[in-house]
Amino acid sequence: MAAVVLVGAQWGDEGKGKVTDFLASQAQVVVRSTGGNNAGHTVVVGEEEFKIHLVPSGILYPATICVIGNGVVIDPKVLLTEMDSLEARGVSIANLRISPNAHVIMPYHIKLDELEEESKGNNKIGTTKRGIGPAYMDKAGRTGIRMGDLIEEDGFRRKLESNLQSKNLILEKVYGAKPFVAEKIFAEYLGYAKRLAPYLADTSLLINAALERGEKVLLEGAQGTLLDLDHGTYPYVTSSNPTAGGACVGAGIGPTRIKNVVGVIKAYTTRVGEGPFPTELVDAAGEEIRQKGHEFGTTTGRPRRCGWFDALIARYAARVSGINAFALTKLDVMGGLETIKICIGYQRGDELLTEFPLSQTALAECQPVYEEMPGWQEDLSQMRSLAELPQAARNYLNRIKELTGVDLFLIAVGPRRDETIVLQEAF
Ligand code: GDP
Ligand code: IMO
Ligand code: MG
Repeated sequence: MAAVVLVGAQWGDEGKGKVTDFLASQAQVVVRSTGGNNAGHTVVVGEEEFKIHLVPSGILYPATICVIGNGVVIDPKVLLTEMDSLEARGVSIANLRISPNAHVIMPYHIKLDELEEESKGNNKIGTTKRGIGPAYMDKAGRTGIRMGDLIEEDGFRRKLESNLQSKNLILEKVYGAKPFVAEKIFAEYLGYAKRLAPYLADTSLLINAALERGEKVLLEGAQGTLLDLDHGTYPYVTSSNPTAGGACVGAGIGPTRIKNVVGVIKAYTTRVGEGPFPTELVDAAGEEIRQKGHEFGTTTGRPRRCGWFDALIARYAARVSGINAFALTKLDVMGGLETIKICIGYQRGDELLTEFPLSQTALAECQPVYEEMPGWQEDLSQMRSLAELPQAARNYLNRIKELTGVDLFLIAVGPRRDETIVLQEAF
């Protein structure tokens, strides 16, 4: 019995897709348990690049069961497009399983996401406008429509009509927008339901049975710790819990099943959307990292904000998820820099903070305190062992380990599957 939870330990886009794909080679089941198509996970195999939003990144292994768990919010149109495009590229989706309890993103969720963002003006969150927040609001408000509801025609129609009564009032009276027509949505979503019905399964039962048989289950994280609804930089967060606890809830397994929690960290920090980011570089250095690291959103194409590695964030992520090993990605991107900075504390007035602050007001007032280290000039992408790495790169890794108190189990030196240095086994 071994479940490994993978979590993003920064603000998302840490390279979870690549690390999931790498670990999936050892797993029999790979599960997406939170978020929706706000996620964009990139997997590069040979010359082929896959950008995956909803289907677990384990899908490239034909024998692996890939589960979309109850904690995910599903836009069925996006899911079907993704399934079709994977199949068109020769990837089998026969092993995909979807929880009937996963909530459905409806067209009015997407519209409301857009309108709420617009109405916030300068205070906008910078969401992906995929309807994620409004869908989770309906889930928490106990009015949401679940995947299992779509296949029960009468019940689905009743729920949709009842939801549209209040949604259309909000759309028309609050935002002056056009109302939605129930019949149109009903017909469209019934079509999706027919195609997705064969994939519905009791996924909690399936995952727990796999664990009982001694199989390996990988829970692929989405988003990141600082986007967590409870532990992130609220309100500049997503509407789910991408930390390890959320993974248990979203997959329907208990914490006693978890053997390891692996955190994915980038060798630097990025963030998409609004909100505080203490180590952000708004100068040429930030632009250099963005260009070298191709830091543009996988989902929205937005340029990612870039900055130095922040040890307080990594330590905080390790604390709230119980991370016992880090996978560090994009070490290759740091090559060619004269010096590299690591944030080791925050200065707030005359106070030196060494832990990530709870208060967002405090965080917004924090100035990073840096330690500088010499960089390296070598290209790391062909290196496959720690011993091959230049001393300066090894010093950087050691310092991260010291500052976070967490061992590294994997280092990525390029986007491809083989551009990886493995230090310890995850399962
Ligand atoms: P995710 O959302 O956490 O899965 O990350 P994304 O896929 O959104 O963004 C990570 C980007 O970095 C993708 O384009 C990956 O192909 C790429 N990537 C992952 N690991 C490495 C690495 O070690 N080096 C380089 N150069 N690129 C990487
Ligand atoms: P992956 O899985 C980076 C960010 C959005 C926005 C905030 C809220 O690829 O790491 P939402 O649409 O979820 O309501 O947006 O969260 N965000 C992400 N940023 N990577 C992601 O996913 C993200 N998913 C959401 O940019 O700031
Ligand atoms: Mg991403």
